[in-house]
Amino acid sequence: MEIKNLILTGGCGFIGSNFIRYLLEAPDFTGRIINVDKLTYAGNIENLSGIGERYPDRYIFQRADICDLDLMRDIFLRYNVDAICHFAAESHVDRSIKHPKGFIHTNVIGTFNLLEIARTNAENFVLFHHISTDEVYGSLGLEGYFTEASPYRPNSPYSASKAASDHLVRAYHKTYGLPTTISNCSNNYGPYQFPEKLIPLIIINAMQGKPLPVYGDGKNVRDWLYVRDHCEAVWTVMQAGRRGETYNIGGNSEMENIVIVEMICDLLDEIIPPSTGRSRREMITFVKDRPGHDRRYAIDFSKLREELHWDPRESFASGLRKTILWYLDNGPWIDRVQSGAYQTWIAEQYGEPES
Ligand code: NAD
Ligand code: DAU
Repeated sequence: MEIKNLILTGGCGFIGSNFIRYLLEAPDFTGRIINVDKLTYAGNIENLSGIGERYPDRYIFQRADICDLDLMRDIFLRYNVDAICHFAAESHVDRSIKHPKGFIHTNVIGTFNLLEIARTNAENFVLFHHISTDEVYGSLGLEGYFTEASPYRPNSPYSASKAASDHLVRAYHKTYGLPTTISNCSNNYGPYQFPEKLIPLIIINAMQGKPLPVYGDGKNVRDWLYVRDHCEAVWTVMQAGRRGETYNIGGNSEMENIVIVEMICDLLDEIIPPSTGRSRREMITFVKDRPGHDRRYAIDFSKLREELHWDPRESFASGLRKTILWYLDNGPWIDRVQSGAYQTWIAEQYGEPES
């Protein structure tokens, strides 16, 4: 399969921007990327600064909303597109609890539009890859793992909207024969993650001497994956995954939230010893739990490992250290994303304005 012109949606977000950097350097991809992004609060053109200059013939940015069917069809035809890799989404669970409508619009209608465009221009179309999440499977108890055969049991408006989009992708393969693949991944972390998500929020608050909010008892478990490993897994599935199939992607790295927060405090204390001599752990603050908070996610990715020979490269300890160093080195990026809109969200969610 050779992809010549790839629409990549949501390329200015956290994972999409890491994926564009990864793919443009991959020796087995020589095609062109058309990055389609609406630039919501989570989309940041600065995440790809220098890319247009370095790859003038292989990278194009188009600001567009995937919910705009006519504009998306126009872009598809203009660039002779033969594949779509679909990252664009409203992605933050807490926002979906407070403001669900936009999640249904972008995640369901937006995905439907892209599938329709691909279906009705299917002649030279080689692949629709859909980026999804382990959250569609709901919550685990102390035992067990999510496999590709686990039932869908989404618990938040975000995960329900992602589940709906997964079903549409599946239906377009079964009904129309559209060449599709889906990947359901666990929690990512790494450079360029917007600081509404746990790890960057805690790193930045700890750097800035602010309280470190931990929901409930802090014992909820996520399975963490360094973002570059996710990128490599997605490209592996796009190249060699069986069409019509779903592949789980995970990090083999289950952690309780409280343990992560303590690790961040300890790493920062080691890298920049606090002037007060007191550990940053003292800033940990237990706050009201998230409604419907999923207790545990854990991924069985043996299908991906056995069929396509992928394994994560980064350990959580090394990935977390790299991530902290990236945030410490990128103060101006942090200053710019902590905009007015960001401060409004922090005030709404945590009940206190940023000082
Ligand atoms: P993000 O919120 O950082 O980025 C989303 C991007 O999509 C932004 O650039 C935004 O501007 C763009 N976008 C949003 N609505 C759009 C629209 N209507 N039209 C065009 N562009 C739009 O998200 P992320 O964390 O990078 O997640 C990317 C994808 O990966 C999502 O589909 C998410 O569900 C999935 N995912 C994320 C994780 C994670 O841990 N972050 C894990 C598994 C799966
Ligand atoms: O599992 C994959 C999913 O991971 C993705 O599909 C989502 O797009 C992504 O946002 C992420 O969802 P989570 O809800 O797991 O991530 P978040 O970083 O919001 O929260 C991680 C855990 O930390 C969760 O148990 C809630 C908790 N938490 C989060 C925040 C923001 C806190 O304790 N305090 C906080 O301030």
